Amino acid sequence: MATEAPPRIVSRDVTKVYETLRGPVAGLMDFSLDVGDGEFVCVVGPSGCGKSTYLRMLAGLDRPTSGTIEIRPGDDPGKPLNSVVFQEYAVFPWKTVIENVAFGLEMRGRSKAERTERAEYWLERVGLRKFAGHYPHQISGGMKQRVSIIRALANDPEVLLMDEPLGALDAQTRIVLQDELLRIWEETRKTVVYITHSLDEAILLGDRVILMSAHPGRLLETYRIDLERPRTIDTMNLPEFGELRGRIWARLAGEVSRAMEQQE
Ligand SMILES: Nc1ncnc2c1ncn2[C@@H]1O[C@H](COP(=O)(O)OP(=O)(O)OP(=O)(O)O)[C@@H](O)[C@H]1O
Ligand SMILES: [Mg+2]
Repeated sequence: MATEAPPRIVSRDVTKVYETLRGPVAGLMDFSLDVGDGEFVCVVGPSGCGKSTYLRMLAGLDRPTSGTIEIRPGDDPGKPLNSVVFQEYAVFPWKTVIENVAFGLEMRGRSKAERTERAEYWLERVGLRKFAGHYPHQISGGMKQRVSIIRALANDPEVLLMDEPLGALDAQTRIVLQDELLRIWEETRKTVVYITHSLDEAILLGDRVILMSAHPGRLLETYRIDLERPRTIDTMNLPEFGELRGRIWARLAGEVSRAMEQQE
């Protein structure tokens, strides 16, 4: 998305080298990416190329070996810089659904009334209000992942970081949640960095698709996705969609083969 404001995320020449017993392993190489305010950026690339490595550093869970990553704070100091959603249902089993959703707000000392109001709003949005008092083991995988996603949204972070958030779900549930994500994002216009193995998902959701090379991951190509919004699952049937998929896949396929050869 073209924007006048300075980028929300600036990453410059980011390299990550892991020291292992077998010697150094490059997790990411000279990776530079700016993400605009309110932009939805999807990152795709073969397994092991460094997508999670990048996201963990964005989240501040790990540090680059060299290079810099910055998330520009917003005007509201009460807002967290980022919230992360991982592939595994990262919910607390000993907390109820509503307590899970309100967790970030609780950590930041928000009043019980505000926590409940915000959590109920998000539960309603994704059809989980009836399950507010349930524990995670009493709900399905798709529901748990909804809980993880709205917990991040309830935090109202400057940047939402998602690492294959729908990767563990069955195909039908995944489609329903893609549709939900589209609707929510089109209302909130949060800055999002979204990692996925699904090229269709990346094109459907993103303003831009970033293609990474096989290990050690570098930025290979950037594709602007100008498909009209609001988008829905039906957007995938547009000829432009198919054209984009063909163009990106032609490039991605070679990297996937390279990554597989490396494993042999
Ligand atoms: N903690 C670690 N210690 C050593 N090497 C690591 C560590 N984490 C990741 N790596 C290596 O860094 C490279 C990038 O890993 P990363 O998990 O970022 O890949 P990815 O793109 O997220 O892969 P996938 O699509 O399978 O999730 C891989 O070669 C991996 O083996
Ligand atoms: Mg990963």
